[in-house]
Amino acid sequence: MKKIKVIDLKPGMKFTHAVYITPTNMLTGPETPVKSEDIERLKRWGIKEVETSGEIIEGVDYSFDEKKKEMHSDSDLVREYKKLHKIKHKIMIHYQDSIDELNKIISDVKNDRHINNMKIFNISTDLISEVISNSPIFIYLASKICDKNDYLANHLLNTAIFSIIIGHLVEIGSKNLINLAASGLVFDIGMAKIPQSILRKTEKLEPKELNIIKLHTIYGYKLLIKDSNFPSEIAAVALQHHEQFDGNGYPRKLKNDQIDLFSRIISIADTFEAMTKKRSYRSEFLSYEAMKNILNQSKHKFDPKLIRIFLSNMSIYPLASLVKLNTNAVGMVIGANKDKPLRPVIKIIIDEFGDKVSQDEDKFFDLIKVPDLFITSAVDESEYNIDIFSLI
Ligand SMILES: [Fe+2]
Repeated sequence: MKKIKVIDLKPGMKFTHAVYITPTNMLTGPETPVKSEDIERLKRWGIKEVETSGEIIEGVDYSFDEKKKEMHSDSDLVREYKKLHKIKHKIMIHYQDSIDELNKIISDVKNDRHINNMKIFNISTDLISEVISNSPIFIYLASKICDKNDYLANHLLNTAIFSIIIGHLVEIGSKNLINLAASGLVFDIGMAKIPQSILRKTEKLEPKELNIIKLHTIYGYKLLIKDSNFPSEIAAVALQHHEQFDGNGYPRKLKNDQIDLFSRIISIADTFEAMTKKRSYRSEFLSYEAMKNILNQSKHKFDPKLIRIFLSNMSIYPLASLVKLNTNAVGMVIGANKDKPLRPVIKIIIDEFGDKVSQDEDKFFDLIKVPDLFITSAVDESEYNIDIFSLI
């Protein structure tokens, strides 16, 4: 019997005779390729060598064949991801410029000045084309960025980004999309009028304080329609975005189609955005958990048709979120397969042996093409000390 080091085994290698882990425990039969799962299992068990009385069957680059079968670097979603990776810094600058603009507008509102609605429409128009063509990076930014000092500006911009994605998916038309995005940029502007002492409170709010917060819908509506001349459909979103599909929302307990389409869209975007962020009374949810929570609430709170479209296109594991696979490898979601929310396209960040994969290495899996590979859980990037922004 000849000993073979496990580190020398490559997926797809074949031997003329069976390969054994112990004299009675066979790894693989004669002329049967060694699988990557076999090698992974041996490494997990701490086995350093296996034995065979056979010879390696030479002449074929097995590892290449095996990789070709499993990797999907040539898929459209992977190509799109690589294109985005090159322009992310430009996008980040655009994102920050929009935050600066929104902060100026918020400061105007705090100082009882009206909002220059042209500024909002300019941000909205610029944002739409960028979000539609570069949605994975924007989804990442909108799910992750929340500066405590720029809280309201971040919340407005991120909600506008998610609402553009939903509006585009439901094909509301280009003029409507501009108004929808503008609604996302101002829908919560009434919060600028709520005392900071209430907003920054870390203890549970008193009913009286909650009622004061609820007034932001009315403040926002008045501000937009009376003081700043926004179209009524945009101002209505400020008033309606806390209404719920089953009639249990506020301030007017509207239900179903009594709630405008824009408000039904912004309500989903607003809730998803808020759930992915840290709050004084709870830590942030992973995007995956936020998605699950939305799904649980969808029966009564949101328009079920819109939720279905949002979920089927975002994937249960949203773009740029991290997931663990059944091989123990950790990957980042880089593309969603429509109608298969549990089987997105993954870029492997940490391989099945716990080693970090370099950014230049093309290790992609399209999970609809690999039935035996599946996601076991969503994971938090801080657990693995991974800087996601460097990867997207
Ligand atoms: Fe609100």
